[in-house]
Amino acid sequence: MTVTLMATSHRIVFGDCKSMREIRDDSVHLMVTSPPYYNAPFDYPGLFKDYDEFLGLMHDVSCELYRVLAPGRVACFVTDDMLVDGVKYPVVADVTRLMMEAGFRYRDRIVWVKPKGYVRISRRSGVVLQHPYPMYYYPDNIQESILIFQKGKFDYSYIQTLAKRRLEKSRVDVKEYNGQEWYLTVWNITNVLPFKGRAEEGIAAFPDEIPRRLLKLYSFAGETVLDPFAGSGTTLRVAKELGRNSWGFEVDLELRDTIRRKLETTNGNGKVTFQQRKDARKLRSLIRESVKRRKSVALTHMA
Ligand SMILES: C[S@@+](CC[C@H](N)C(=O)[O-])C[C@H]1O[C@@H](n2cnc3c(N)ncnc32)[C@H](O)[C@@H]1O
Repeated sequence: MTVTLMATSHRIVFGDCKSMREIRDDSVHLMVTSPPYYNAPFDYPGLFKDYDEFLGLMHDVSCELYRVLAPGRVACFVTDDMLVDGVKYPVVADVTRLMMEAGFRYRDRIVWVKPKGYVRISRRSGVVLQHPYPMYYYPDNIQESILIFQKGKFDYSYIQTLAKRRLEKSRVDVKEYNGQEWYLTVWNITNVLPFKGRAEEGIAAFPDEIPRRLLKLYSFAGETVLDPFAGSGTTLRVAKELGRNSWGFEVDLELRDTIRRKLETTNGNGKVTFQQRKDARKLRSLIRESVKRRKSVALTHMA
């Protein structure tokens, strides 16, 4: 069945999402995001001074999310514990705790499993092959968590207030739901593959399929979706494709063209607007400089 989608609007604010003052209280119907992976060696080395600074940001964002989400609505984080310089940081547990402290109910955790062939740090588990004895075991990671929180309870009588056409556009395709096993707490989805020249190069983007499922399962057509860590704009693109409005926040000004391109090349009738705050930065250049500095310090130590 084909349904024509209504015109949507997509607002991208370049600035720090610890404040989302541009958004009115109780006005967002779904939040889908993946926050920066702390100081992940490949994508965000040195982004935060330390883990406390990262938790401070997640605290502020959780409180803002509680303010902007409409009662009964859902917030989804795609994230994982992070291994940095041999230390494992419990991001999943800490985000869960911070969201609950902000007032949310913890509703579900879905495990996103990636194909076995695409692990980025694959030498980790090989240590046992060199030293086949106990205590050398470090497994390779092929999963992330999709954490789902809810602001109180959803009032199901809302559905009766929706126009028939809009409700029809929001119908979950049961064939897809059964065929792709959306009903399980394990989702097998291929990650964005690291091809050279892809729009998401250097961004740690999630595949469209994750926001696509979440938007279909937790929002109605014509509603408003938010991604506070928009990155390349994947959530916003899927929102446009599915006839949802969207808000995106992104601190890195260098992603403006990537987001614009991603939205322009997506089906759907959507108006895109950009806004820039004083706290926007050129983050990728800063990260590149910090990587260069670390490398030169390491070389000086070796000399
Ligand atoms: C894991 S990426 C998100 C990728 C996104 N899901 C996609 O598919 O492209 C996290 C993003 O958060 C941005 N970011 C980091 N700190 C931020 C902050 N305080 N406010 C807004 N954006 C921030 C980073 O620049 C990065 O683009």
